[in-house]
Amino acid sequence: MTDITIALSKGRIFDDTAPILNAAGIEALDNPETSRKLILSTNRANVRLIIVRASDVPTYVQYGAADLGIAGKDVLLEHGGAGLYQPLDLNIARCRMMVAAPEDFDYDSAVRQGARLRIATKYVQTAREHFAAKGVHVDLIKLYGSMELAPLVGLADAIVDLVSSGSTLKANHLKAVEEIMAISSRLIINQAALKLKRDAIQPVLDAFSAAVKP
Ligand code: PRP
Repeated sequence: MTDITIALSKGRIFDDTAPILNAAGIEALDNPETSRKLILSTNRANVRLIIVRASDVPTYVQYGAADLGIAGKDVLLEHGGAGLYQPLDLNIARCRMMVAAPEDFDYDSAVRQGARLRIATKYVQTAREHFAAKGVHVDLIKLYGSMELAPLVGLADAIVDLVSSGSTLKANHLKAVEEIMAISSRLIINQAALKLKRDAIQPVLDAFSAAVKP
């Protein structure tokens, strides 16, 4: 039987993917929240899950270390998508990519006046394209997390980050000032693996398609 490896990250993506995997007849035999294992067996002898950082999922799939993966649109845009087939929006882990600034910062006026803004973000590519399309001059500062802190300590005027409930912004006296795009997670497949292992991958793809909620 052809082996299949699926890469995904723990936390929200794993939690939201588990029901889809179950509907596809795949059940993890360990819970990544309680186990330190990085390779998880499943009830299907030929299917295993690997647990990687969310931003590393496209890389594992691109190089064929995983055949399939689950990755957010935010992560895929930063990665660029080389070598990846992206057949399915799973409609899970939904949130919005936003520009956010301190509650007392008049972002619209600053933009109208042509101010050069310092923007802190993990999503440098997406932010660069967004502000270039709007003709806003920005200096981008790359961070790896806790972006909300940057405007509070004078590192940046504003941030580009994911917003879900909005509670992190609120707790840090920030407000969303612009929506960049809606985000959800997608199924990604290594292009070569899809050709070489189509018999094994296609049923998983079909089961995922059937399990996706609109
Ligand atoms: C994400 C995001 C925000 C927060 C938004 O961070 O970067 O900080 O969630 O969620 P909310 O609107 O519901 O408060 P996450 O906790 O995933 O950690 P990260 O900083 O590692 O991305």
